[in-house]
Amino acid sequence: MSDWFARRARLAAQLPAGAVAVLATAPERRRNGDSDYPYRHDSSFYYLCGFPEPEAVLVIVAGQRPRSLLFCREKNAEREIWDGFRYGPEAAQTAFGVDEAYPIDDLDVHLAELLADAPALYLPLARDAALDARARGWLDSVRAQARKGVQAPAVLGDLTPLVEEMRLIKDAGELATMEQAGRISAQAHARAMRAVRPGMPEYALEAELLYEFRRHGAQAPAYPSIVAGGANACVLHYVANNALLRDGDLVLIDAGCELDGYASDITRTFPVNGRFSPAQRDLYELVLAAQAAAIATIAPGRRVAEVHEAALRVLTQGMLDLGLITHLVSLEQALEQRLYLPFYMHGTSHWLGMDVHDCGNYKDVHHSERPSRLLETGMVLTVEPGIYVRAAEGVPREFWNTGIRIEDDAAVTAHGARLLSAGAPKTVREIEDLMQHD
Ligand code: GLY
Ligand code: MN
Ligand code: MN
Repeated sequence: MSDWFARRARLAAQLPAGAVAVLATAPERRRNGDSDYPYRHDSSFYYLCGFPEPEAVLVIVAGQRPRSLLFCREKNAEREIWDGFRYGPEAAQTAFGVDEAYPIDDLDVHLAELLADAPALYLPLARDAALDARARGWLDSVRAQARKGVQAPAVLGDLTPLVEEMRLIKDAGELATMEQAGRISAQAHARAMRAVRPGMPEYALEAELLYEFRRHGAQAPAYPSIVAGGANACVLHYVANNALLRDGDLVLIDAGCELDGYASDITRTFPVNGRFSPAQRDLYELVLAAQAAAIATIAPGRRVAEVHEAALRVLTQGMLDLGLITHLVSLEQALEQRLYLPFYMHGTSHWLGMDVHDCGNYKDVHHSERPSRLLETGMVLTVEPGIYVRAAEGVPREFWNTGIRIEDDAAVTAHGARLLSAGAPKTVREIEDLMQHD
């Protein structure tokens, strides 16, 4: 609770005194018939107050002593019989440490009052048409009082970048949750390595992951799990997960749980039959070396682009050595001409946090040349180099239809990277040993 309080205070401190900030949580979404998609709160809303129910709005009034108001559903004996517990404003006020709490149906009346003579209104601008329209309504009702001398806010500000910059730097509590999410996901990957057998469908292996996530209390996968055998691993966002896993193929699993609102994001690639072939091992060792080089660059003061550059350098040299790049060029030329692109076409890192592709700028927007951003303690990013070799003329046949990615989650500390996903076996030796013993 103190975390939410401190975050609201830090946000308020960035706003002019008297400014009103409004943030709604996510709506419920219909799946079909009478069924909704599993409910997931809005990340920034949750970051500032921790309130888990739909139909809720947080309002912060900036000033020396900022005030926070939560608008939420009322208690409802009938609905609680069908759908379960609701806090209601009274219990929510205590549980989430807000100064005031009111029924959601009173939002418009309160906002019209709060915005009278307020200097500014901040909300996530132009992201949700319904909220934009509602804000227009609040402003209209304030403007209607102009002849009584009431002033409407002269400034309309975007709340999104302010909250997103805060979310980029994780505090100790957030890091502890992310570490636990990483631990659970790592155990799920190890479980999949033990469970895999030739002839098994990809979805049966996916089920092992889901079982492990859930039995440790993770609420959901943080994103659709990828379980891709053989050539399917060359499809970057493969989610069909319905093919049979074949003896002699690798399987790539990109899966991570969401725990208490925080994502993990891990990829491991391993042989369906428990032993890497020599060609698979060559490619695997290359991706592993690229990942090690990338992780070694992570430290406060280094630029996020350096992580990608380090991975690219190792991968491209390997592609030259293994005959994947057949042009007679130097490493520098190959990098310059981006000859790696047919085999490595995605970035190496993204921010990780409440969202799997978390918020925050990748460029230094305060610098006129907008260079890549400096890493800071408390940031968390993935390191996920890969290599994807499709069947194609001129490509050594032993590498055809092989996709490998190795992905870990790294917290930036004063001493460099701390891997939150280190529990998932990763070296050829670790993987083969685990798979032989089960
Ligand atoms: N699992 C999504 C990603 O790796 O970016
Ligand atoms: Mn990722
Ligand atoms: Mn991933």
